Amino acid sequence: MNQFDQFSTDIFSTKIFNFKILNIDTNKLKQECFLFKDNDNHDRPQHSNYGGWQSSCIQSNNLDISLYTEMYKLYKIIDDELLTDLSLYYSDNIRLNVLAMWVNINNKNDFNWDHIHSDSIFSGVFYVNVPEDSDSNLQFVRDMREMTSLFHNVYQQDPACKRHSKPDLTNSWNIKPEQNSFVLFPGHLTHRVQPNKSLEERISIVFDVGII
Ligand SMILES: [Fe+2]
Repeated sequence: MNQFDQFSTDIFSTKIFNFKILNIDTNKLKQECFLFKDNDNHDRPQHSNYGGWQSSCIQSNNLDISLYTEMYKLYKIIDDELLTDLSLYYSDNIRLNVLAMWVNINNKNDFNWDHIHSDSIFSGVFYVNVPEDSDSNLQFVRDMREMTSLFHNVYQQDPACKRHSKPDLTNSWNIKPEQNSFVLFPGHLTHRVQPNKSLEERISIVFDVGII
């Protein structure tokens, strides 16, 4: 640690949480995602996805829990356990809840454009199936208005600067998806999903979180 680290203060920092939920059977959940696709008559309007398939919005009260046991189990773990703990981190008096969730299936070359989740305080993604060769990161992109001075000037002078290892200099941040992991981030953060390079499906379930 150098003297600059010791005497620095991070302000306006952004938390991205990454939980492992190991007691979810992803093989079973994968089958339920395909079943949901077969039964889903209401196509969700195209949102951020280029190609791929997004299910209609799923809410706990319209999910057939006799058919989708693992999906419901995942919802309960996130809503009852993770979000209860996270609520207490922020306040004794508010309760964060899952507002809606939906399934994403990206086939080869499918990706998601830059977007935000404007109606949710947090947005989360659980990775059901991540092919080894998909090479398809979740990528956060920094608002360029924040990048006008330090990053811009350092980068212009030295394109090989240490930006990748310095969160205050970088303009993008990659999360490599892992099966059974749940990544939770503020809904206002701009993000994209890189193209799935695998022939196998990249499957995730997205959760929008708010206060109800
Ligand atoms: Fe998203």
